[in-house]
Amino acid sequence: MEVIRVEGGHPVTGTVTVEGAKNSALKLMAATILAPGVTTLTNVPNIADVHVMGKVLKELGAIVEVVDEHTLSIDTSTVDSWETPYSLVTRMRASTAVLGPLLARFGKAIVAMPGGCNIGARSIDMHILGLEALGVEFDVDHGDIYATAPNGLHGATVNLEFASVGATENLVMASVHAKGVTIIDNAAREPEIQDLANMLNEMGADIRGAGTPVIEIHGVGELHPVTHAVTGDRIEAGTFAAIGALVGQPVTIKGFEPDHLGLVLRKFEQMGITVRRGQRCVTVSRDQPLRAVDIQTLPFPGFPTDMQAQTMCLLAVAEGTSIVTENVFENRFMFASELQRMGSDIAIQGHHAVVRGVRSLSGAEVRSPDLRGGAALVMAGLIADGTTTVLDIYHIDRGYERFVEKLRSLGAHVTRVEVPDIEVLDDEL
Ligand code: UD1
Repeated sequence: MEVIRVEGGHPVTGTVTVEGAKNSALKLMAATILAPGVTTLTNVPNIADVHVMGKVLKELGAIVEVVDEHTLSIDTSTVDSWETPYSLVTRMRASTAVLGPLLARFGKAIVAMPGGCNIGARSIDMHILGLEALGVEFDVDHGDIYATAPNGLHGATVNLEFASVGATENLVMASVHAKGVTIIDNAAREPEIQDLANMLNEMGADIRGAGTPVIEIHGVGELHPVTHAVTGDRIEAGTFAAIGALVGQPVTIKGFEPDHLGLVLRKFEQMGITVRRGQRCVTVSRDQPLRAVDIQTLPFPGFPTDMQAQTMCLLAVAEGTSIVTENVFENRFMFASELQRMGSDIAIQGHHAVVRGVRSLSGAEVRSPDLRGGAALVMAGLIADGTTTVLDIYHIDRGYERFVEKLRSLGAHVTRVEVPDIEVLDDEL
């Protein structure tokens, strides 16, 4: 098993370039199903989740070729299956993004239900309700969702109960060929959705209003393959901005649109952090103590839930008490209990966390609870006394390309280390 070891207290400064956005690349890969032929995606991050989506597409019959480290060519003319197995969906919930494109192209799809959820319960109920409005019928058998559109898909108005990113994307992709006009009301507005709509429009689709709460899709005939560059990863950028803010020396982050991090950067400024916005880059520095602020996560343009853990790490050592409210996901405070092991003072009450700033953190052995929480623990290690060892780093590999190398290029003392698996034998208990 590999762990990340961080030796705290060393300067971290310099320039880092972010990769293409994970959350965009995964959906763009799924969307290639809609344009039979060879689509080329550039600026694709080389991360574990992209490899899983590659496997999902291969399972469907596509030919996925790695042209170079950040370029994929995907031939979807050979797609001849519409079934996505549980072994892949369970590894990555975003595998369900193929549902919409498969329905649009073949009028049918079989997708394993994401673990631990039923139709109608949380998870993908909004995807299903929306697709039903477009004429899709669902059946569940042996853990798989069977979706068919016996009479083809037709336009409809879908009011989303919550601005779900995944549901908005599946509905956009499902409706590109639907007869008539589809309107998604209360659509998610994340930049990755705009990226998806841009690529689909380049392919010949007619999607209007992406990036606003109302998206209108006019059904068209066949789409054609294109070459498209994935938008820069605002969350990777935000993570390195938080690292610069925590350590204090200037860190410049390149390769993304600062507007995509609008509220995050404004909150950072309220915390006493200096933010200089440039052309597709931002420089973060700090010459005063961090100050407490309250944050609440909300769909874009609100504060992103994917930046909650990294920001909580800053607040953990800020002067004063902050309230962090998580409105998007349940159970997204697991990071806080690991940070407690490093000496933070955080009390969780339902979906609120009361963060009382402490003067310093101390290195400890901690476990990545999830992708962003794992990155935030490495970040905490940079200012903690002594050594921090972060376990379960496969979470970090899902979404950050060469995270350790990039931190080292900024001067951080961080290494990946192979350690023996921890085994507890029954007869030793
Ligand atoms: C996407 C992002 C994830 C980000 C999240 C919110 C990808 C691969 N992942 O996830 O990084 O944190 O947006 O910005 O793009 N929900 C339902 N029913 C549904 C759909 C969602 O109850 O049918 C709930 C979810 O359980 C969650 C909330 O709505 O509590 C938000 O989910 P959603 O916006 O759909 O997030 P994802 O698309 O899964």
